[in-house]
Amino acid sequence: MIIYSLPDYQDFEYKIDGKKTHLFILRNRMGMQVAFTDYGARIVSVLVPDKTGDLRDVVLGFNSIHEYLQADEQYHGATVGRFANRIANGCFHLDGKKYTLQQNNGSNCLHGGPTGLHSKVWDRRISFKKKIDFCYVSPDGEEGFPGNLKVTVSYELTEDNEIVIKYKAETDKKTVINLTNHAYFNLDGEGQGDVLSHILHLPSDHFLPIDENQIPLDSEVSVDGTAFDFRSPKKISQDIDKDDVQLKRGNGYDHTFVNQKPISEAAASAYSPNSGIRLEVFTTEPGVHLYTGNFLSEDIGKSDRKYSSRSAFCFETQHYPDSPNHPQFPSVILEPGQVFESETIYKFSVKKQIV
Ligand code: BGC
Repeated sequence: MIIYSLPDYQDFEYKIDGKKTHLFILRNRMGMQVAFTDYGARIVSVLVPDKTGDLRDVVLGFNSIHEYLQADEQYHGATVGRFANRIANGCFHLDGKKYTLQQNNGSNCLHGGPTGLHSKVWDRRISFKKKIDFCYVSPDGEEGFPGNLKVTVSYELTEDNEIVIKYKAETDKKTVINLTNHAYFNLDGEGQGDVLSHILHLPSDHFLPIDENQIPLDSEVSVDGTAFDFRSPKKISQDIDKDDVQLKRGNGYDHTFVNQKPISEAAASAYSPNSGIRLEVFTTEPGVHLYTGNFLSEDIGKSDRKYSSRSAFCFETQHYPDSPNHPQFPSVILEPGQVFESETIYKFSVKKQIV
């Protein structure tokens, strides 16, 4: 039995590239507590009540900055950018000019490159203990992307047990942008084994199949009759090990689902019958990338337990992977004078009966 609590402030006081890092905590009257750090503008802990009223920490992470720096998996809870997910061969063209990025995932550029937004120390401002804004200016050419990009991510904890995430960005040169949060969820609590018995619901009629390098093919495909049909809720375990070329390429689910819902309706949800905790995701983004933690590799987490493959899942709300190389996908171009805005809500509740 794990008794969950928040990490200590002093274990997050550190210096990276000359900038101080910290831990911040938001609380609401429902008993929910959420911890963040300015290292990667990331979510560190999310304590929510389960069906018995006990608090469980439903995101994976570490107890100190030091451990975040040492970990094999770099993206725990982080804000990911300047371009979330993969860009094939680490290159794209804008107005006839070729931009070259670092290849940190085979030949792909993954999550904005090795020193993307997840690895930066962001400036921050807390308002009334309910909201925290993180701000970072990514210089022109950082990780190969054009334009000085000013990015703001604000997190708000509501009295409805929602974490509301708002992204804003402006550039001074035409660029591409795709931001997401990379929280790894386990609704039984981090360190409590795998998530295979979690029940997922994704109302999407279509998903994006991938090639051998995990780059999306050119068109969306119907989920009908495939392992990717979550339109009726089903356990992650139900089809994940099926003999299916798409699942083999992702080593499980590592695919973008086309979100056809407005932000007023859930684009995805997950539920653990064991804890009774449900997570619903609402977003303005056109895609929800479902990743079932297939490549997690035994980092030791907050409760001194191993984070093995499939011990968590991510719902990464975002534009489609590799969009700069697929002109038919929803546009990821940001022009000077425009403001990029995007919103995602992670809402937690307790569900008494099975779906
Ligand atoms: C990707 C995975 C990748 C992981 C890295 C996910 O967003 O889809 O393929 O291994 O991030 O942490």
